[in-house]
Amino acid sequence: MKISVIGGGSWGLALSNVLSNNKHEVLVYDKSTKIINKINKLHICYQLNENINEDIKATNNLTEVLNFSETVLFAVPTKVLRDVLNDVNKVQSKPKLFINAAKGIEPDTFLRVSEIFNEMIPSKFLKGFVALSGPSHAEEVIKNMTTVVTTASDVNEHAVFAQMLFNNNDYFRVYSSTDLKGVELGGALKNIFALASGLIAGKGMGDNARAALITRGLVEMEKFYENYGADTKSLKGLTGLGDLVVTCTSSHSRNYQAGFKIGHGKDLEETLKSMTMVVEGIRTCEAAYKYAVEHDLDLPIITAIYHVLFDKMTPELALKKLFERSLKSEH
Ligand SMILES: NC(=O)c1ccc[n+]([C@@H]2O[C@H](COP(=O)([O-])OP(=O)(O)OC[C@H]3O[C@@H](n4cnc5c(N)ncnc54)[C@H](O)[C@@H]3O)[C@@H](O)[C@H]2O)c1
Repeated sequence: MKISVIGGGSWGLALSNVLSNNKHEVLVYDKSTKIINKINKLHICYQLNENINEDIKATNNLTEVLNFSETVLFAVPTKVLRDVLNDVNKVQSKPKLFINAAKGIEPDTFLRVSEIFNEMIPSKFLKGFVALSGPSHAEEVIKNMTTVVTTASDVNEHAVFAQMLFNNNDYFRVYSSTDLKGVELGGALKNIFALASGLIAGKGMGDNARAALITRGLVEMEKFYENYGADTKSLKGLTGLGDLVVTCTSSHSRNYQAGFKIGHGKDLEETLKSMTMVVEGIRTCEAAYKYAVEHDLDLPIITAIYHVLFDKMTPELALKKLFERSLKSEH
């Protein structure tokens, strides 16, 4: 099949490589000419400096990429999603199945990516929407290292279609799910705890603290799901616990790296300037904190991370406040 990919960064190209390994034809769109040239001339992912398959082609012509296929994979940061969708609306002429691999929530609206697509893409052009999520670092996928993810859609047929597109019996196993809400929420929220995990590592804390963070993070995610009306079954799955574990324990995670720098004393602005790649957890933390306040939801770790990121609270004070809370039963 032919597949269009929007976003030629780390994740867009790692997934393009999976598709190309599966013998699909891939055309990638990115706004950066440098990235296009690296793909077409050197067959390299610029952000990761890794080789990709030579038959993956790239363009900075959005009309060309949209005319290429009726299946479009999105891998751009959620921060630019609305701009890209505006551009897409100016040129698209046929209905598409959209597959999104970005993980985030819009801070001002608390909309999930599927909801942004529903809001922005006219229904006559929106054949369907699938989220692809799970424990998966581009750094490993691009080297064909064993990875297991989930494709989710409200329409089972669409989730299964994407499952078959991406599944590779050698290294990339894909499950399907109809719990789109739970899958999208998990992929977004886990980034906040990845930031926290980096932060405590940056402060010199060890495995005990990290294990406690992952466990209590999962409890906060569960509270969130229940309040938000999401099914908690995906929390125990690849896109919940699976993704939470990988982002909290791997130095590949941008969110972990950003947290680590903040833990080492850099402030948010300085940290973001030093990162060349997207850190979704910051916007998601803002979104989740605002949601928690609005819904009177007690989420101590998310609150602590929010104050460190946005109110210049020191990590030491945030931790002290966490420990000074009244003692309670675990469950
Ligand atoms: N990197 C990973 O391991 C990984 C894994 C799973 C999910 N994700 C998610 O995928 C999304 C993208 O992450 P990434 O790591 O690929 O980021 P990245 O920074 O490596 O790449 C983002 C790409 O988007 C392009 N882009 C930015 N604005 C654009 C626009 N207006 N039009 C077209 N292209 C534009 C950039 O030029 C860049 O090539 C994020 O939401 C991230 O959370 C990443």
